[in-house]
Amino acid sequence: MKVLLTGGTGFVGTALVEALREHGHTPTLLTRPRSKPPTNAASIPWDTEVGPPPAAAWEETDAVINLAGEPLQGRWTAAKKDRIKQSRVGTTSHLVAGMAALERKPSQLISVSAIGYYGDRGDETLTEDATAGHDFLAAVCREWEAAAMSAEPLGVTVARTRFGIVLGKDGGALGPLNRLGKLGLLGPIGGGKQWWSWIHIADLVGFMIHALENRLSGPFNLVAPDGRRQRDWAATAARVLHRPGFLPAPAFAVRAAVGGFAAELLSSRHVIPAATQASGFEFAFPDLEPALKNAFADD
Ligand SMILES: NC(=O)c1ccc[n+]([C@@H]2O[C@H](COP(=O)([O-])OP(=O)(O)OC[C@H]3O[C@@H](n4cnc5c(N)ncnc54)[C@H](OP(=O)(O)O)[C@@H]3O)[C@@H](O)[C@H]2O)c1
Repeated sequence: MKVLLTGGTGFVGTALVEALREHGHTPTLLTRPRSKPPTNAASIPWDTEVGPPPAAAWEETDAVINLAGEPLQGRWTAAKKDRIKQSRVGTTSHLVAGMAALERKPSQLISVSAIGYYGDRGDETLTEDATAGHDFLAAVCREWEAAAMSAEPLGVTVARTRFGIVLGKDGGALGPLNRLGKLGLLGPIGGGKQWWSWIHIADLVGFMIHALENRLSGPFNLVAPDGRRQRDWAATAARVLHRPGFLPAPAFAVRAAVGGFAAELLSSRHVIPAATQASGFEFAFPDLEPALKNAFADD
């Protein structure tokens, strides 16, 4: 299939482009004009803030995978929060407006969201049917998903993939977590009772291919079945890194070290991949310890 991607130059996109090629698909990337062009696929410049992608981008496109989004790391000033929202909701709306104008539309849109959709939910178990939360990230995710869903009346099949904390070598959650680890702060964070729901990048990419090839629709929690309380997660990470005795990190220290991303680390989301597993997908890394060992391993 010819697959058009946004955000394809990032941590997830780079791994996904590789996997798409391995599965015989042809990825083309829409990248912002100021971004460095990718070396692993064809790319077309698109200013996501201005309007729909150029007409030439859509030629023969069978499916669209929408990953674009301003990174959450850093201080959440009003301007940063606006970029976090617009780079997701605005980009997705422009993408769907572009589809609406086409005579031959792509048959499928796989759009990213996050488990931030559920907000901060204590010990509640959250399948894909759970209600959305009410904080800033939950509101962004709701609008992001709604923008993607507006492609359905056009006859496009829409899958919404709610990513958990993604574990992989070259980015994602392990960047900020490594920084905390170096400061000796990867102990219980803010008490450590909060649930962390995570997924290994290999499974994330594997599910995206599965969704594409089986034309899946609906919301999917992209988390492994082995969600843990953060203090248990931290103890496992300490064992894997052979660094016992990490110090507890009070919430203020986490906020100082990783900025607005702290909201992600301090919130509790016990997310279950119910629809993901019901779709027939099998996890390569269902358990935390082997997933962390693989993600932290040196090449
Ligand atoms: N990694 C995680 O743990 C995690 C967890 C939950 C959800 N997610 C979501 O999954 C998606 C991919 O994650 P990732 O870790 O691969 O992110 P990433 O490495 O930061 O890459 C995101 C890509 O989005 C584009 N982008 C960045 N800022 C943008 C902006 N202001 N406006 C429009 N496009 C922008 C960039 O592509 P170009 O420069 O080529 O345009 C960039 O390569 C993101 O939307 C993220 O929120 C990730």
